[in-house]
Amino acid sequence: MDEQKKIPRHVAIIMDGNGRWAERRKLPRKMGHAEGCKVLEQTVRDAADLGIDYLTVYAFSTENWKRSEEEVSALMVLMGFYIKKLLKVAEEENVRVKIIGERSRFAPDLVKGLNKLEYETRNNTRMVFAIAINYGARDEMRRGMIRMAEDVKAGKLEPTAITEQTIGSYLDTADMPDPDLLIRTSGELRLSNFLLWQLAYTEIYVTDDLWPDFNKEELQKAVDSFGKRERRYGGRLTK
Ligand code: IPE
Ligand code: IPE
Ligand code: MG
Repeated sequence: MDEQKKIPRHVAIIMDGNGRWAERRKLPRKMGHAEGCKVLEQTVRDAADLGIDYLTVYAFSTENWKRSEEEVSALMVLMGFYIKKLLKVAEEENVRVKIIGERSRFAPDLVKGLNKLEYETRNNTRMVFAIAINYGARDEMRRGMIRMAEDVKAGKLEPTAITEQTIGSYLDTADMPDPDLLIRTSGELRLSNFLLWQLAYTEIYVTDDLWPDFNKEELQKAVDSFGKRERRYGGRLTK
């Protein structure tokens, strides 16, 4: 029989385990985050090579502000570096970058960099790469509901006409299909407030590998495991 390869159209990743990776090496946690950034860069290239159309990664949650001041500021510095690097990678790989989450809480320089990254890559077509920063699914819904309520108040939206699609259109992922596959590294079996609406029927793959140890083989394993599953709903397959 001709085995058709099932590639998930949209892969979401909870990149967890940077801290543990560093601690196991007696290194400061920020070294784990720095290594994690390198792995992310490679993962963008690998995902595009595998034919994935959308890659969404959880980089900084609304809850992550509660970490030590030292760790949060190290993450902000890294983000500044990474934004510049990513612009290069995105151009090389013909990838369009999209930011989800609430960016206005970041320093003006960072916000500028994020806006530039989205703007300069807007015409790239090979893959959409969405980065979730200062993102929490409950916060995303809260922000979406404020806009929805405003539209109702302005007479632009009839409450009884609100469908599931309408709700989706008020979320940060409005122009993206729901993820087909969710990967979480480091073995934790929870969603940590990531894409709660969009993950309704997503297949889940958890690996014990720490994020800085993730690589193309691991991505391929997750994709292969997805290919063997029977989906219940959703999951339009591209290739
Ligand atoms: C994920 O790694 C990166 C961020 C949340 C920013 P962690 O920092 O959560 O790593 P662990 O879970 O402590 O190992
Ligand atoms: C999830 O990892 C968030 C990101 C990967 C950015 P966390 O390490 O923050 O999640 P919890 O604290 O284990 O739930
Ligand atoms: Mg963690």
